[in-house]
Amino acid sequence: MDIRNIPEYELARLREKAKEIKGSTTDYEQEYKSLLTRRLNHEPLQYIEEYVPFYTIQLKVDQRCLIPRPETEFLIELIKENTNNPKSILDVGTGSGCIALMMKALYPNSEVSGVDVSQEALSIAIENAQLNSLAVNFYHSDLLGNVDTSDLDVIIANLPYIPEENLVGLDKEVIDYEPLLALNGGEDGLEVISKLIKEIENKKLTNLMLCLEIDSTKSKKTLDLFSNWKEVKLYQDLAERDRYVFATR
Ligand SMILES: C[S@@+](CC[C@H](N)C(=O)[O-])C[C@H]1O[C@@H](n2cnc3c(N)ncnc32)[C@H](O)[C@@H]1O
Repeated sequence: MDIRNIPEYELARLREKAKEIKGSTTDYEQEYKSLLTRRLNHEPLQYIEEYVPFYTIQLKVDQRCLIPRPETEFLIELIKENTNNPKSILDVGTGSGCIALMMKALYPNSEVSGVDVSQEALSIAIENAQLNSLAVNFYHSDLLGNVDTSDLDVIIANLPYIPEENLVGLDKEVIDYEPLLALNGGEDGLEVISKLIKEIENKKLTNLMLCLEIDSTKSKKTLDLFSNWKEVKLYQDLAERDRYVFATR
């Protein structure tokens, strides 16, 4: 990337970040140059800055986890509108822990857990729990594989949903830096999500609401996966794209 492609606000933020180096002007200049080089190599600004705001909390992010997106902040808003003090919440595919931690911040009396198949993601989620002093139980699980409670009011999942063949078309910022495990939704983009829905059905979990973030082009196919659920609602994001499915059983 050429420096002319980096907007001024990003350069200003890199300058601010470089100031964290305590030392001489030469130390500052070297640090700024090194941060700029990382950005010129397409590393996302958020990984360089190390911390991002998410809803009302602050999260550490690096290549161990996906960078939380604004669409996921909107998912939190929808969950707030659709729940009434849930007692037990599970976040499947927790990544940085953003959703699970925000749930605990909103519902301090709830039992909140977050699972991920990536040990690296879990390690950063645990750091983020400490950073925000929020008591969330993070543990390793391939979807519901290690989840032994059936007492769940809400399951939230922002699982990978990009069809495998579309991965090559992603920006370098995404494909070269964010974890593939967080992006790859298999052949049709619905592989992981449909597996989760089947696991919920096979475990005969009931009286729960499943809140999904989905790919806008897959809303019809996602809705088809809920043929025997009680109530299924589709929500749009602020750009009016179908992005969320809330289903109860
Ligand atoms: C799209 S990222 C979302 C991360 C975070 N929840 C967020 O909203 O920013 C998907 C996450 O699901 C995890 N994941 C992928 N397959 C999984 C599986 N089979 N079981 C559990 N977690 C999985 C990935 O490691 C990744 O952290």
